[in-house]
Amino acid sequence: MRIESAKQVEHFGAVRIHPVRRVLELDSGTRIPSQIKEGVEPQKIERDVITGIQQKLAIVLPIKDEDVKIFEGVLSGIPHDCLMIVTSNSQRGEIDNLKKEQEILEQFCLATNRSALIVHQKDPQLGETLADCGYNQVLDGKGLVRSGKAEGMLIGILLAMVLGKEYVGFIDTDNYIPGAVWEYAQHYAIGFSLSNSPYVMTRLLWRYKPKIAGELRFRKWGRVSEIANRYINNFISAKGKFETDVIKTANAGEHAMSLRLAKKLTYATGYGVETQELMSIFAQFSGLTPIVDKAVREKGVDIIQTETINPHIHEEKGEEHLVKDMLVPSLSVIYHNPLCEEATRQLITKHLAELECIPEGGEIPQLGMLPPPENVDADKFANLVDRHLNNYTTPKGRSLRVDLWPAARKAAEVTKQVFTDLDGTLLHPLSYSYAAALESVRELQAAGIPIVFCSAKTMAEQQVYRKELDIKDPFIIENGAAIVVPKDYFHFSFSFSRIIDDYCVIELAAPYKEVRNRLKELCEQREIQITCFGDLTTEEVSKVTGLNLMMAALAKQREYSETVMIEGNKKHVQSVLAAMKDAGLDYTFGGKFYEVSLGSDKGKAAKLLIELFKLNFGNVYTIGIGDSLNDLEMLTAVDLPMLVQTMNKRWNKLNVKNLKRVTGIGPEGWAKAASEILGGNNQGK
Ligand code: GDD
Ligand code: MG
Repeated sequence: MRIESAKQVEHFGAVRIHPVRRVLELDSGTRIPSQIKEGVEPQKIERDVITGIQQKLAIVLPIKDEDVKIFEGVLSGIPHDCLMIVTSNSQRGEIDNLKKEQEILEQFCLATNRSALIVHQKDPQLGETLADCGYNQVLDGKGLVRSGKAEGMLIGILLAMVLGKEYVGFIDTDNYIPGAVWEYAQHYAIGFSLSNSPYVMTRLLWRYKPKIAGELRFRKWGRVSEIANRYINNFISAKGKFETDVIKTANAGEHAMSLRLAKKLTYATGYGVETQELMSIFAQFSGLTPIVDKAVREKGVDIIQTETINPHIHEEKGEEHLVKDMLVPSLSVIYHNPLCEEATRQLITKHLAELECIPEGGEIPQLGMLPPPENVDADKFANLVDRHLNNYTTPKGRSLRVDLWPAARKAAEVTKQVFTDLDGTLLHPLSYSYAAALESVRELQAAGIPIVFCSAKTMAEQQVYRKELDIKDPFIIENGAAIVVPKDYFHFSFSFSRIIDDYCVIELAAPYKEVRNRLKELCEQREIQITCFGDLTTEEVSKVTGLNLMMAALAKQREYSETVMIEGNKKHVQSVLAAMKDAGLDYTFGGKFYEVSLGSDKGKAAKLLIELFKLNFGNVYTIGIGDSLNDLEMLTAVDLPMLVQTMNKRWNKLNVKNLKRVTGIGPEGWAKAASEILGGNNQGK
């Protein structure tokens, strides 16, 4: 997309208001470098940049009894990478409009291979959830979410928040032109790409808003916007020496925000919502009152305005709706803002009296306000939504391709994180059972403490336990050969080696084949006898390990390391190990077998993963739980290393600083360790 070059920004405290910029070309053109040097102006925004942002963008679609054909058209205009969140307040009962909307959305998603959320504002579960999270201001006397577009938007913001999105945009569902809808979502991405601040809002100005009066007339301004813009500019002008008319989008229904900004704003109920968003930004960040939020003070807030090319044609809902539902609320939020000075107040009162919206000398009604979404207990909300997410997801049974749990953790603060070995630690050394630690696993999960497996086991084996225990955190496989991170777990992009299903895999070790080849060469050259899992049948592996057949099959699916048995006396074992070392192979002893690889390192993997956690969540306090020598590097990498007992009720001898020995074999010890972690009697805060 090409957009007019930047214009002089107007500063209002920490707020930067960008004058409207016109879009000149909807497409971004070819990536092949042109012979002719691109001019600096106008500015070009590449397609990849737009798509990259749209992947982090949720589009909230408020709907109340709109024509479903028009709704269908709107859906077709939402770019593929955006997550659609439909918040409906349509009539139920004999004529069930929600059902129709659900069907249309489902068909659309099936046809386009997408998934979406649709939730009814009056869903009792939703009301209950919000009450539990302490967000009562959005509820009516019956405990249901109140009617209103703003309330619908708020539900959308909260869902986008716990789904781990970075941005949220709004598009009305009564828009006749799917191409315009598509353009709006492009503008949102462009607005975000133009800002360097995490606190950013993009608001759209329509080039034309045609009216049909005999013939099609391309009107530039709506009446409500003209008046609302005038008074909001009045408000800003009165605060400085210079008059301004920079705001052209006072009540832009089509707008988008970074969630970091959206979380901080106070929202007006009903149609005053968009004007109030601006007033809330000015009230908090224009410096008229002290700016308490240090991060915002430093980074500033960008308000970006862009002008669209497609005309905006939507349902006409009548003159009375315009004035009563839209103009009065819009001006009311300016009027009632504590920072609004008397002169602007008088002008607003006069104007509304002239339009006969209020009686001469009458009061301007004050709107209810919805407090900033950051006041909602996000972790609790995510937990509750997690339970009901299936009811809101379309098509039924298909995953949203976003994992609510890690997303919830993004919203919550992660302050502690646990690395754990599996065999002999979380799993009993003989029975492989985690039963004794199950309750503790649940307690850590409830406290939002990620549990990262760090073990010699393969990806396939670890998946079994992750699934059983409902653990959704990253994991380290085959003794540090690779780190497996669920897509979307972290907030930022990092480099990884490959994607397997829904995971980004960071590989640190060479592939299995190379390890096998090197072992084979070694055995031939030095005439050494060893047994490799790769040469055994599943039954044989099951026999030597005591694993059941299924787990034995999974244990054979090695991608980076080979499990080796070395038989014979100590001296023989030592000489084989020395030969492996000479050949450049790494090995660790897991209690029964040797894991041989080219580059696996539990410590290195743990350190790298800790870096990622810290980048995402800030200063995280790390804990490691292990049982044997092959946990040494992992335990050295963490803040609090903990050791459980082995079968003989003793602790393995490990030289690790500040090592905390807990009583209990394997999972029993693990449970003790967990209760210490939860007790907070370590210094991790
Ligand atoms: N979820 C939900 N709940 N949606 C609602 C509700 C509600 O109670 N009421 C209306 N909507 C939906 C409508 O179905 C439509 O998609 C959208 O919200 C906007 O409502 P309209 O009634 O069509 O508003 P408008 O066209 O007069 O005004 C629009 O543009 C203005 C700017 O020109 C709105 O977006 C305004 O908020 C905006 O200020
Ligand atoms: Mg409308």
